[in-house]
Amino acid sequence: MQRITDIQEMQRTADRLRIEGKRIGFVPTMGFLHAGHLDLLRVCREQCDIVVLSVFVNPAQFGKGEDFGRYPRDPDRDEALAASAGCDIVFIPNSEDIYPPDASTRVEVEGLSELWEGRFRPTHFRGVTTVVSLLFHIVKPHCAVFGQKDIQQAVIIRRMVRDLHFDIEIIVAPTRRENDGLAMSSRNTYLAGSGRSDAAVLSRALRLAEQAIAGGERNTAMILAIMHDELAGSPDIKLDYAAVFDAETLEEIIVIDKAPVVIAIAARIGNTRLIDNTIVKGETIES
Ligand code: PAF
Repeated sequence: MQRITDIQEMQRTADRLRIEGKRIGFVPTMGFLHAGHLDLLRVCREQCDIVVLSVFVNPAQFGKGEDFGRYPRDPDRDEALAASAGCDIVFIPNSEDIYPPDASTRVEVEGLSELWEGRFRPTHFRGVTTVVSLLFHIVKPHCAVFGQKDIQQAVIIRRMVRDLHFDIEIIVAPTRRENDGLAMSSRNTYLAGSGRSDAAVLSRALRLAEQAIAGGERNTAMILAIMHDELAGSPDIKLDYAAVFDAETLEEIIVIDKAPVVIAIAARIGNTRLIDNTIVKGETIES
């Protein structure tokens, strides 16, 4: 596996691979890889000839007082894990190269970026879409794989790709979970003791919501009440939102009458913020 830190070297390498007719797949990450990231690499491997992983803790997507400083970092371990998952190139740029001091260009998907997560993290998605478009220009992929855990991010990136005519296929890969259902995340390392066991309540609430829909419930107020009841059993969990929304427009749904819909949840345990979701597909709604 090749390690590249220089932006121009990455661009030249991508140009050469394209001339050779290779299909380049890309998995952008902030590192501290876990089994969920390795799933993304495997999905990418199935679709592409060359798999590129980027590791960059993007300062622009952290708000004031968020965890940029303490976000876990271990690039050597990331490299070893990426190699074990069949990655060909790991791209680890420097922050000063990605964002020269006088850089003044930002990419923003208006509207979608202000909903749900955007209400709690107003500058977050602008940071994500800016860095992802920068990385797309550097890595020049044919396809890019994102995790379903960050479903709003994936929807916003699809919209950005459509609006800016990036010739890139966006693939969303399923969320990998711990045995108790907790969605894997690099931020889970912040959880300790009872916080860690409490965290499983998010996925339990989502399962109950899915079961209610499978059982015929279509009124989202009833579905959200079931989720709230489950969360109430874990008083240390501070809910930011639980919501049912359209999988493309992110608009809130009151009565479920078409699929797919997203059931999403965001909560804090101490100073750790967790998000999770499930996508309810047509089969469940039609059954
Ligand atoms: O999902 C992430 O890890 C980040 O938001 C991403 C897409 C790598 C951009 O920094």
